[in-house]
Amino acid sequence: MEIHIDTEAGRGRREEIYRQIREAILDGRLRAGEALPPTRELAERLAVSRNTVSAAYDRLTGEGFLEGRVGAGTFVRTSRGSARAARPAEFPIETAPVWERVRLPSLTGVRAEFDFQAGIPDVGMFPFDTWRRLLGGEIRASAASLGYGDPAGHAGLREGIARHIAVSRDVRATPDEVVVTSGAQQALDLIGRVVLRPGDRVAVEDPGYPPARLVFEALGAEVVPIGVDAEGIRVADLPRGTKLVYVTPSHQFPLGLPMSLDRRLDLVAWAGKTGAVLVEDDYDTEFRYHGRPLEPLHSLDSTGRVVYVGSFSKVLSPGLRLGFLVGPASLCRVVAKARFVTDWHSAGPVQAALARFIDDGGLVAHIRRMRREYRRRHELVVSLLERDFAELTLIPSAAGLHVSAYSSFATEPVAARALRAGVLVNTLDEYAVLPGRRPGLVFGYGGIPFAKVEAGLGRLRDLLR
Ligand SMILES: Cc1ncc(COP(=O)(O)O)c(C=O)c1O
Repeated sequence: MEIHIDTEAGRGRREEIYRQIREAILDGRLRAGEALPPTRELAERLAVSRNTVSAAYDRLTGEGFLEGRVGAGTFVRTSRGSARAARPAEFPIETAPVWERVRLPSLTGVRAEFDFQAGIPDVGMFPFDTWRRLLGGEIRASAASLGYGDPAGHAGLREGIARHIAVSRDVRATPDEVVVTSGAQQALDLIGRVVLRPGDRVAVEDPGYPPARLVFEALGAEVVPIGVDAEGIRVADLPRGTKLVYVTPSHQFPLGLPMSLDRRLDLVAWAGKTGAVLVEDDYDTEFRYHGRPLEPLHSLDSTGRVVYVGSFSKVLSPGLRLGFLVGPASLCRVVAKARFVTDWHSAGPVQAALARFIDDGGLVAHIRRMRREYRRRHELVVSLLERDFAELTLIPSAAGLHVSAYSSFATEPVAARALRAGVLVNTLDEYAVLPGRRPGLVFGYGGIPFAKVEAGLGRLRDLLR
């Protein structure tokens, strides 16, 4: 145990060593069985004589706090204290008001017997064996990925991502137009950091993805919520002077509908006219169950105004914290600087493992397998909602990990009662900024096994009677 002793504290040095070890034992920082540093080592570190340390240890041993074991060293004998760590008095450091609006997500494991929470993939189907092998291969003495790496991301992974999205989404990019990020969320943060100045106007969808709105607010932007109709964000409502627009065109979050081609073209044309940057968050469209995906904004734009954002949170696992952005190489160079000054880069071995997973064809095979599974759940949820819930109007959706439905009832009391009955569903209100948006429910099926879907919706059905 590396114990910190302050020998400048005024009293005699022997007294200080004695007092500080005793306090550490009493307040629970040192626990029974933990080894103290050998007297010679501690004496050297504190620049005192070995006798001074020995005398302090002897006194503590005499009082029953420590015990010497022949040939093994000196150990803490007793844990008198609970784990009550001594804390300095709370000093009210003032924080920016934006943080009062942020609620941390609950991470308490199983949240409900029937968990229809939106945005959760089935991590139980993660390719565990393959990843153990890939990561194991990277945690070895010769692995280059253990050193500091390129803030823009592991070169092989940027290449792999560029190839993957060219095929799967028709998003054309060279590796120097790709930056690897810690999830889509960090991509939004980095884009905001390099594009926005405090007070700049950012438009977001309403209802929309709260972490996106909050990250732009935290960067000092004025965030304006814009309504969404059956075709997507209302481009006609975008205010003058908007610097950046954040949208989810493939699978609007949380409504689930795709942005129509006309609306996409309107948005790209509007950005061309106004000079705004468009951020296209394509977080879960690898899971498409029918129909052809519409052109990404990134492909419809010829002026380099669209920054495309992707994530491996849904296709693989959110815990890997891997995502990416695609933008002009000039922007990516600045984003890499912002990445360097915030946290340098994502974990090297994890990036390298993903690069190999993509190269070996593992990612495509995994997506195919997960798509089959999610398609079953999607079809079951849709058919049960259509059959049993006359008070819900399903919002058409052909992709992703959730479907939403407008409701003819106030959703908050229903969701609260459902949770008490073991069914977790989100409400559209949770994602709305302005009051008065249409009420509805969101049904995520990534976190609930196929076999439990019918019973879960049945229980919700009973509550609505
Ligand atoms: C709209 C949207 N964007 C992005 C993400 C993924 O975020 P990340 O890659 O930071 O885990 C989610 C996850 O729920 C989401 O709903």
